[in-house]
Amino acid sequence: MTEAAFIHRYEPATSAGSPPLLLLHGTGGDENDLLGLGNMISPGSALLSPRGRVLEHGMPRFFRRLAEGVFDEEDVRRRAAELGDFVTEARTQYGIAAPIAVGFSNGANIAAALLLLKPDVLAGAILLRAMVPLSDPPKVELGGKPILLLSGQADPIVPASNSSKLAALLSDAGARVDHKVLPAGHQLSQADVTLARGWIGGVEAKAA
Ligand code: MLT
Repeated sequence: MTEAAFIHRYEPATSAGSPPLLLLHGTGGDENDLLGLGNMISPGSALLSPRGRVLEHGMPRFFRRLAEGVFDEEDVRRRAAELGDFVTEARTQYGIAAPIAVGFSNGANIAAALLLLKPDVLAGAILLRAMVPLSDPPKVELGGKPILLLSGQADPIVPASNSSKLAALLSDAGARVDHKVLPAGHQLSQADVTLARGWIGGVEAKAA
């Protein structure tokens, strides 16, 4: 791959019918973090897991922020474009279909930005504790893409109004959004895994 490459892990599929997953970690995570989650959500899927290229006090992220919940939107746009190019190259290199993103926190936010800025890159997305990534997103057509948005009722980082706004933004753009608010905070809970696994089973059944 070219310099557009991200440090990443790739695990090939072990089951032909399962969709590839693009795993996007939260702040301070890396390419190893979500491999276990990916395996639990969709056993047998190919897993493509890049490490965010922005460092905040040494902690990898997928784009710069000015403060917690306040994003450098120019950087969001630039980094989403870079990540989109990486996924396109990785698809050629590994011979995989457009992936379903599984993003947590900062990773969910860059996945939401990808959907709004580069809609062809992803086949769908599981957004765990996501926020609206852009205050003025371009008009986009998401053509029925399936999106599962799981929010935490007691999330101190993502206000309920923000996640509802994201759900509305994505469904107004034509995505099939399933938004659930869980009795959880910002961290993931067992319910996230169970719901994500059930949801992806439904997506696979439709694709088959
Ligand atoms: C972000 O910066 O993307 C959000 O504040 C979530 C986080 O990474 O803490």
